[in-house]
Amino acid sequence: MPENLLQITGIKGSPRSESNSSRLLEEVLTGCDRAAEKTDQEIIKNIIKPDEREISACIACFHCDRTGECIFRDDMPELIKTFNRSDIIIVASPIFFNGMPSTLKKMIDRCQPIWASKYRLKRPIIDRHKKRRGLLLGCAGAPEYQDQFTALKTVGEMFFKTINTRLLAKKFIPNTDNLILEQESELLDEFRKLGEKLVEEFARK
Ligand SMILES: Cc1cc2nc3c(=O)[nH]c(=O)nc-3n(C[C@H](O)[C@H](O)[C@H](O)COP(=O)(O)O)c2cc1C
Repeated sequence: MPENLLQITGIKGSPRSESNSSRLLEEVLTGCDRAAEKTDQEIIKNIIKPDEREISACIACFHCDRTGECIFRDDMPELIKTFNRSDIIIVASPIFFNGMPSTLKKMIDRCQPIWASKYRLKRPIIDRHKKRRGLLLGCAGAPEYQDQFTALKTVGEMFFKTINTRLLAKKFIPNTDNLILEQESELLDEFRKLGEKLVEEFARK
């Protein structure tokens, strides 16, 4: 791989096509493109929509504890490889019942082989020394209330830790059912800047 090639993985947690969280993720990616152009880096983007992937739910058989592999042969082994080779990983999720959609959670639960390979088997299937940077984005429909994003934050942080990715920022937007994002230019600008910051992390000094 050329040194100036960045692999960016965007995970769209919303099953909706007109999704606010996906819209914010796209804005981050626009920022990534801008910064890449300025810093002379190339970008490859991988967009993952867990609801469109074949991902079985973890059945806690603990096969991965013994082998580092999952018994299911679905899309997850490929997705784990994608996480491994990514430089930047962005998760954008809506809030469903104070947490994340089950399709995204299912994908995260299936990262247990990564966890088991590191902490049980001491044979990591993820490169622990690769520099990865992450961003966790959340949208919730209702006006702000206590603990609206607590579960997303807690699960998201554990996901990023498991895939050895340092979280550069977490950004949670409440009240999205009452916002028209296209009219929120300051907000969109903020997300674009986050994307620029992510890519600038990898610019040669
Ligand atoms: C099943 C379901 C559960 C939801 N639960 C919550 C909730 O607990 N708190 C909240 O603030 N909004 C809740 N919402 C509203 C969504 O968070 C909101 O519509 C959000 O913008 C959806 O994100 P998206 O536009 O990226 O799809 C829920 C929506 C759905 C469909």
